[in-house]
Amino acid sequence: MMQEISSSKEAIQLEHIHGAHNYHPLPVVLTKGEGVFLWDVEGKKYFDFLSAYSAVNQGHCHPRIKEALIAQAGTLTLTSRAFHNDVLGPYEKYITEYFGFDKVLPMNTGVEAVETAIKIARKWGYEKKGVPEQQAKIIVAENNFHGRTTTVISFSNDENARKNFGPYTPGFIRIPYNDLTALKAALTNHPETVAFLIEPIQGEAGVNTPDEDYMMQAKKLCQEHQTLLLADEIQTGIGRTGSLLAVCGNCSCEGHCEKQESYVEPDILILGKALSGGFFPVSAVLANNPIMEVIHPGQHGSTFGGNPLGAKIAITALEIVRDEKLSQNARALGKVFRERMELLAEKSHWVKLVRGWGLLNAIVINDSPDSSTAWDICVALKDNGLLAKPTHGNIIRFAPPLVMSMEELHSCCDIIEKTILAFEKTEVE
Ligand SMILES: Cc1ncc(COP(=O)(O)O)c(C=O)c1O
Repeated sequence: MMQEISSSKEAIQLEHIHGAHNYHPLPVVLTKGEGVFLWDVEGKKYFDFLSAYSAVNQGHCHPRIKEALIAQAGTLTLTSRAFHNDVLGPYEKYITEYFGFDKVLPMNTGVEAVETAIKIARKWGYEKKGVPEQQAKIIVAENNFHGRTTTVISFSNDENARKNFGPYTPGFIRIPYNDLTALKAALTNHPETVAFLIEPIQGEAGVNTPDEDYMMQAKKLCQEHQTLLLADEIQTGIGRTGSLLAVCGNCSCEGHCEKQESYVEPDILILGKALSGGFFPVSAVLANNPIMEVIHPGQHGSTFGGNPLGAKIAITALEIVRDEKLSQNARALGKVFRERMELLAEKSHWVKLVRGWGLLNAIVINDSPDSSTAWDICVALKDNGLLAKPTHGNIIRFAPPLVMSMEELHSCCDIIEKTILAFEKTEVE
């Protein structure tokens, strides 16, 4: 029998005793979610301002996804890819048309999709570009975050994520983010390069936004050097940045326009998180035929990847983004959010910088990355009914569900303002 939880303290203690200590969560124990709100086990209500790291763009427990999940769960959940199922094909048609690619390779978690993209790019490099065996290189950015598997942490520069997990997978070249000169030099000096793997905005690193034409110029350089552009849009994609994808640039349609001038087409697009609206791990790797055709039976896969339950959920989650115009909402709300935070920065010395696109934003706290100020502010925000989390010490990421209303956004800005200004007073006294 599962132990009933009677208090937050009890739940936290159970996790502490029986779970690995691989996370450092804020001390809040959640039991219910609906739209932009979460409730803890004591019944306190919060605005969610993290969205499970941008997985819940459609809002918690969206009724349409819940309905799709229940219907499919009572019909067929898993066949494995040993057999066909009657949802996978329609899902593959839907998602490829939605994002404008020939083919999709369905996976589950984000990092699996990144690993998949790396494998496809390497194989393409050997078989299509003619890179000598075992020589393939992939260029990545400093401060990247693409997940936690051994290969993926091999090219991270976060020592906490890497230390004592070696030996590391070779074949990666790290260059500074948002640095086209460095990209050009790396491509020129390493003709064996098969791909440039990049987050169009670095989410985990603290919502680092690049220059406006960075992705466009990076794509041109990649084309000149017969190198694939791999866009990791696991966190930035699916409406979060005020466009269907961050690579859509300033186009705020829901992905059904003729491709706009600002659109930078990745050779491989990597999606996860909000692809399921937070119900179920669903990730996807999209590419056109000349790239995807390098993969043959037995060379890649996963027992759960492409399962009918996940496929049905993903179709519904994507329909919602379009039907509820979530990219456009993110764009409108994001603009107001940054304006409000910039006003706050004028009043509070704690807010050093505000940055972001759409509803993927961050404020940089005016203290050192090893200080506890950002954490303390997040604890105070929690006490005032808003849940957010620091990233990289002194940065607070703000990423609410995209179904938030303008009125709710203003209420959240009021909470943030009140908390940070009050925090100031406490600190000064
Ligand atoms: C850009 C990016 N790539 C990959 C991942 C890994 O996704 P997952 O945690 O589902 O493996 C994340 C997760 O935060 C991410 O933000």
